[in-house]
Amino acid sequence: MPSFLHTYYAEPISIDRGEGGYVWDLEGNRYLDFFGGVLTTMIGHDHPRVTAAIREQAGKVLHTSTLYLSAPMIELAEAIAERSGIPDPRVFFTTSGTEANDTAILLATSYRKSNQVLAMRNSYHGRSFTAQAITSHSSWSSTSLSGLQVQFVHGGYRLRSPFRELDDDAYTEACVGDLVQLLDMTSAGDVAAMIAEPIQGVGGFAMAPDGFFGAMKKELDNRGILFIADEVQTGWGRTGEHFWGYQAHDVVPDMLTFAKGVGNGITLAGIVARAEIMDTIDVLNFSTFGGNPLSAAAGLATLNTVLDDDLQGNAKAMGARFEAAMRPVADADPTIAELRGIGLMWALEFCHPGTIEPDPARNAAVHEACKRHGLLVGKGGLYGNVMRLAPMLNVTADELDEGIAALTAALS
Ligand SMILES: Cc1ncc(COP(=O)(O)O)c(C=O)c1O
Repeated sequence: MPSFLHTYYAEPISIDRGEGGYVWDLEGNRYLDFFGGVLTTMIGHDHPRVTAAIREQAGKVLHTSTLYLSAPMIELAEAIAERSGIPDPRVFFTTSGTEANDTAILLATSYRKSNQVLAMRNSYHGRSFTAQAITSHSSWSSTSLSGLQVQFVHGGYRLRSPFRELDDDAYTEACVGDLVQLLDMTSAGDVAAMIAEPIQGVGGFAMAPDGFFGAMKKELDNRGILFIADEVQTGWGRTGEHFWGYQAHDVVPDMLTFAKGVGNGITLAGIVARAEIMDTIDVLNFSTFGGNPLSAAAGLATLNTVLDDDLQGNAKAMGARFEAAMRPVADADPTIAELRGIGLMWALEFCHPGTIEPDPARNAAVHEACKRHGLLVGKGGLYGNVMRLAPMLNVTADELDEGIAALTAALS
């Protein structure tokens, strides 16, 4: 396997099995899983409803392709379209978030007949040629080649923004002002789209103030520029407050992309777009595995569990419980420059005390210590100095408290 794949931990672990919020390694050690393979196992390992749906579908048919009608795919498309908030929606399934974003850019550039795209600083949108072009993390950028003309705008990552001292409204105003100037000074003709994660995932759960993207979109609308919300990490109620991350911003995107959690571990991703945009593609286009019956069955079972069990409500309640416990711990720890998050996505940004100079070594040490205390957490951030925590959407209060105790012990 390639050297660019890397494993967590000085002594990597091999996960053998999982049940609910826990996983076991090959040596039989049990860990509380607060990362879900990067927010992808979303409602617990071996969830009875999802496993049953996969078993049932596996016994019927695994793959047919979109050359034939497929009941699970159509049912899932209808369920996602209905909840997308996007008017006259069309859903196209892909196999990864990268491919979903690639499709969004294909649609936007075709619809607007422009190769100019805006993305946010500190963004991550995937690993492919197109997705890397709209990603602004030098550690993930292996090429500068692209057929796109991409400009990166301010706003997603407040802690390291030149406008960080400003209050919410002034911060948003400054970023919108910068967007206007960027467009006035640097664009040539029409710009196709702006793509943004409502909360930046790989970027360390960095958040703009509520309403930020609505304010940005007003300027985009003035120029006909489309807005794409990358909901790969923020969708399905994870933020607790909303079903989609974009809903904190008083805005309706022209397209949204989804992946990760919706299949609870099975390969499933896609894009929702207004019909007039989706139908820009007037030649043949298809994805062999996109929306295959097995993925769609897993997706339906996952989505219906999220809705039937009100897991968005659980994310909100457990998020409040997490913050109440961790805010005082973070305030008392001089190496934590910021505790930020909402619902069930929380980040600790480690810096040298009294500064915002990143301290990836401290993050690495706490990461290892969490493992010793039986807790799996993630890393992120531009400098690798951010810890990411994303418990299952159905995490119980006992599991959450166990994770908080392990994290607190690891920090000290
Ligand atoms: C916000 C966001 N968009 C897109 C992607 C790419 O998804 P995938 O790895 O499924 O291609 C990721 C993956 O981490 C992501 O976090």
